[in-house]
Amino acid sequence: MSDTGATLWFTGLSGAGKSTIARIVEAELGERGLRVEVLDGDVVRTNLSKGLGFSKEDRDTNIRRIAFVADLLSRNGVVAITAAISPYREIRDEARRTMGDRFVEVFVKASVEECARRDVKGLYEKAMRGEIKEFTGVSDPYEEPVDPEVVCDTESETPEESAAKVMAFLESRVGAAA
Ligand code: ADX
Repeated sequence: MSDTGATLWFTGLSGAGKSTIARIVEAELGERGLRVEVLDGDVVRTNLSKGLGFSKEDRDTNIRRIAFVADLLSRNGVVAITAAISPYREIRDEARRTMGDRFVEVFVKASVEECARRDVKGLYEKAMRGEIKEFTGVSDPYEEPVDPEVVCDTESETPEESAAKVMAFLESRVGAAA
C-alpha cells in the first residue's frame, strides 16, 4: 500500500492549533491502520534542528529539513504530518514541488489577536513587550497560503471539526483516485 503515502503540511501561527489537530488526525489515521509520523515544530527543534534560531535563514533550513524527512516518509507509504509555522510561502511551495501530488497543505487559520489571547505558552506577551525578537505575527512575517487544500478555521471550529475536515479531504482524494 505504498500509494497511501502523503504529507499533511500544517502551517499557521504559533498557537493556531497545528499540533492539536495534527495529533487528532494522527490518531484517526492510526485507527484506520495507516502508518503515520508527526513532525512537530517544537519537537523537531529539540533534535533534528537543535541549535537553529528564528532568522529567515534558520527557519528556511528548519523547514527544508522537515520537508526532506516528510518526503522520505511519504514516498514509502507513511502519512507524514508536519506541524511547523513554516511562515514563508516560497519554501512551502518548494516542498510542494518536491512531493507533488503527495503534498496536502492545511492552513490552520487563526488571527494574531486570537493566538495572542490564547497565548498558550506565554510567548505573545513577551513578544509584544519586545522580549522575543522576530516573533511570527508580531515582529516577523507570516505569509498565508494562497490555495491550500484544506483550511481549518480554529476560531470557529473545534479541533475535532478541523481534524474531520482533513480526514474528509483525504477520503475524497482516495475516492477520486479509485
Ligand atoms: S518555523 O518558523 O521554523 O516553522 P517552528 O514551528 O519550528 O517555526 O517553531 C515555532 C515555535 O517556536 C513556536 O510555537 C514557539 O513555541 C517557538 N518560538 C520561539 N521563538 C519564536 C519566534 N521568534 N517566532 C516564532 N516562534 C517562536
